[in-house]
Amino acid sequence: MQITEQLTAKLAWQALQDHHLKIKDMHLRKLFADDPRRGERMTAQAIGIYFDYSKHRITGETLKLLFQLAEESGLQGRMDAMFRGDKINFTENRAVLHVALRAPQGKSIMVDGKDVVPEVHAVLEKMSRFSARIRSGEWKGHTGKPIRNVINVGIGGSDLGPVMAYEALKHYSKREMTFRFVSNIDGTDFVEATRDLDPQETLFIISSKTFTTLETMTNARTARDWALSTLKDPAAVARHFVAVSTNAKEVAQFGIDTANMFEFWDWVGGRYSMGSAIGLSTMIAIGPENFRAMLDGFHQMDEHFRTTPFEKNLPVIMGLLGIWYNNFFDAQTMAVLPYEQYLKRFPAYLQQLTMESNGKHATFDENEVDYQTGPIYWGEPGTNGQHSFYQLIHQGTKLIPCDFIAFLQPLHSLGAHHDYLLANVFAQAEALAFGKSEKEVHDEGTPAQLAPHRTFEGNRPSSTILLERLTPEALGKIVALYEHSVFVQGIIWQIDSFDQWGVELGKVLAQRIIPELEAGAKDSLKHDSSTNALIRRYVKAKGQKE
Ligand code: F6P
Repeated sequence: MQITEQLTAKLAWQALQDHHLKIKDMHLRKLFADDPRRGERMTAQAIGIYFDYSKHRITGETLKLLFQLAEESGLQGRMDAMFRGDKINFTENRAVLHVALRAPQGKSIMVDGKDVVPEVHAVLEKMSRFSARIRSGEWKGHTGKPIRNVINVGIGGSDLGPVMAYEALKHYSKREMTFRFVSNIDGTDFVEATRDLDPQETLFIISSKTFTTLETMTNARTARDWALSTLKDPAAVARHFVAVSTNAKEVAQFGIDTANMFEFWDWVGGRYSMGSAIGLSTMIAIGPENFRAMLDGFHQMDEHFRTTPFEKNLPVIMGLLGIWYNNFFDAQTMAVLPYEQYLKRFPAYLQQLTMESNGKHATFDENEVDYQTGPIYWGEPGTNGQHSFYQLIHQGTKLIPCDFIAFLQPLHSLGAHHDYLLANVFAQAEALAFGKSEKEVHDEGTPAQLAPHRTFEGNRPSSTILLERLTPEALGKIVALYEHSVFVQGIIWQIDSFDQWGVELGKVLAQRIIPELEAGAKDSLKHDSSTNALIRRYVKAKGQKE
C-alpha cells in the first residue's frame, strides 16, 4: 500500500511519550479532586449510549494528543475510504463493507461499479420470508412436521456472532423453538447438540463464508448422515438443510439446492458478518422485525462514527483509549465486563472481533511494527467475575483497563436484583479507580501487619458504558461501537484489520497430519521430534482401541 509515515515518528506519538512520562504516576484520586466536575465532563453521549471515560488515567492534554494522533494517522480519510467501498483490505484486495449490511434502502454504496445496497435488501427479504415460514410452521420438514429446532453449523465469525446474538436477545426469541450452535470439530459438540432432537423437526443452517472450512464441512456431513439415518430419503436434505455462504458452487456440490442458499459477499469479513445472512438463525429466533431493529442500531452507530467529530465520537474515543494503555502503559490485556447475563457470550465474540482483526505485525508498508498492536481481550459477565478474577485486577501487579457495560432497565421484574447488579458495577469502577489507602485501612483499626494486604492502590482505569435496555437495537449499537473502535486502532497501528493470515498455517499443518493419523503412520513421520512423538502416541492408542 502507500508509504505512510512511521507511527513512532509522528509528532503526536512522540508528544504522547513525553506526556506519558509526566502523568503516568498521577492518581485518579487527584484528577477527580482537582476537577469536581470531571465525572460529568469526561463523558460522551450519543444515540442512547452514555459513555463515561472519566475514570481513565488521562487529562485534557492526553485526549488532545490522542485526537492529534488520529488526525496525523489520516483516520477520517481512512474511514471515508471504508464507507465508500474502497478496497482497504489490501492484502486480500477486498472492500470492507459490513456497514453496507445495515445501510437503509435507497442508500447507494458501490463496489466494482455495482451498487450493493439493493442486493443486501434482496437477501434480507429472502431471509425474512424464510424466517416467517419457519416461525409460523408453514415450512414443513420432509415428513410433514413443522420445524421446532434450528441448528447453526459454523465456526469463527459464522458461529460466534450468531451464538452471541441468540443469547443476548433470548428474551425476544420464539421460546417454543430450540436453537443450538455446533462449531467445534470435536464430535462431542454435535453429539450433545442433537442428542435429544428429532431430525423430522430439525433444520440445519450450514453457515460458512467459504464453504470449505474443515470444521463446518465435517459437521455438515455428520448432520446430513444424522438426519438421513432417520429420514432415509436424500430428498429430505432440501427440507432440512439451508446454506449461508458466498460460495454457491461448493453449496451445490454439498447437495444443498442453491434456492435454499442465503448469499453474502466477499466484502463482509467473517467476524463482521452477524448482520448478514450469517444472522439467519438470529432472525428465525427473534423475528424479522427485531432483526431489522438490530440492523438499525448498527446503522445508527455507523452514522455516528462517520459523521461525529473525534472529540465526541464514541468509537474514536474508545479506540484511542485502548491505544493509550496498550502503547504507553504497556497494558497487555483488556477486560470486557458486561453486567448483563444475556451478554454472557459477548466477551467470546469480542475476542474474535478484536484479536483476529488487530493481532498483526506487518504494516501497510510491509514493515515490521516496532510497537505493540492488539491487546488480549477477555471477560465474563458481572457479578460472577467479581468472585473469580477481579482480585487480580484490584490488587495484582498488572494494569488491566476494563469496559463495564450495563443497562438501566432490566428485562425481568425480580425485586431488588437490578439495584444490586447496578450497585455492583458502579462499586467496582469506583473501587478500581480510587482504591483504599494504607491510612484508610489503618484508621479502620486494621493490624499493621495486615494493612498492606488490605490496601487497594486504585488508579485502575475503566470505562462505564450505559444503555437504557438490552434491545435488538441496543445490541446493534454496542457491536458496531466495538467494530469501529477496532478499526480506529488498526488505522493507528497501520495494520490490515480485515485479513487473518495468522490462522492459515495451523490449518495447513492439520491437513498434513490428518492422513498420518488415519493411516496410522509411525516410521515415515517428518515433523520435529515432539510432534512425531505426539502423533505416534495417538496412533498407538488408536490401534489399541481398535
Ligand atoms: O479460520 C478463521 C476464519 O477464516 C474466520 O475468519 C472465519 O470467521 C472462520 O474461519 C469461518 O470461516 P467460514 O465462514 O469461511 O467457514
